[in-house]
Amino acid sequence: MKFFVDTAVVDEIRTALSWGILDGVTTNPTLVAKTGRRFEDVKREILALVKGPVSLEVTKMDFAGMMEQAHALAAEGPQVVVKVPLTKEGIQACKALSDEGIRTNVTLCFSANQALLAAKAGATYISPFVGRLDDISEDGMLLIGDILQVYRNYGFQTQVLAASIRHPVHVLQAAKLGAHVCTVPFKVLEQLFNHPLTDRGNEQFLKDWAKVPGQA
Ligand code: E4P
Repeated sequence: MKFFVDTAVVDEIRTALSWGILDGVTTNPTLVAKTGRRFEDVKREILALVKGPVSLEVTKMDFAGMMEQAHALAAEGPQVVVKVPLTKEGIQACKALSDEGIRTNVTLCFSANQALLAAKAGATYISPFVGRLDDISEDGMLLIGDILQVYRNYGFQTQVLAASIRHPVHVLQAAKLGAHVCTVPFKVLEQLFNHPLTDRGNEQFLKDWAKVPGQA
């Protein structure tokens, strides 16, 4: 499973890259707004750092506007993946962009039928929002399984990108189901490293090592 970090905070991306486990980045308008920075600056810095896929989202909701934004975003670098919403216009743009060879990430997916539409339109990635479904008392992970099954049935190449991840169990569940990608908030990515037995074990090893003659 590929790991993307779901953030627009450049320092978080730099740190995650330094760990050697990061495959790409997803952003959205809310994540950019949270940085309090200009999108142009954030985008330039992220694209200078990250060689893997970087999802940048369109904010125009009409087809022509979306296409104009998408072309401008795609021109910023070969790693740009254009994120479009799962609306009629978004799916239309997805089809047009994929026909042009521009990679797309169809976002705000909450049903397997929506995911089927995205795959038929040639989406590179489909982003089902697991956490937001959990928030309304549904089981978001069921959707990941359903989409994987539907895509397998027809051999669709669209990759399932588990999004709206809230905690490490979501990451494990996505991996067990075989999601192609999981986009993980920085805090959750950090949590994946943690285990109290690792800390306790390391502490003991270091104490014991200090007892070995000749070791300081
Ligand atoms: C996906 O690409 C989105 O940026 C993100 O995962 C949304 O997550 P949220 O529900 O925590 O806002």
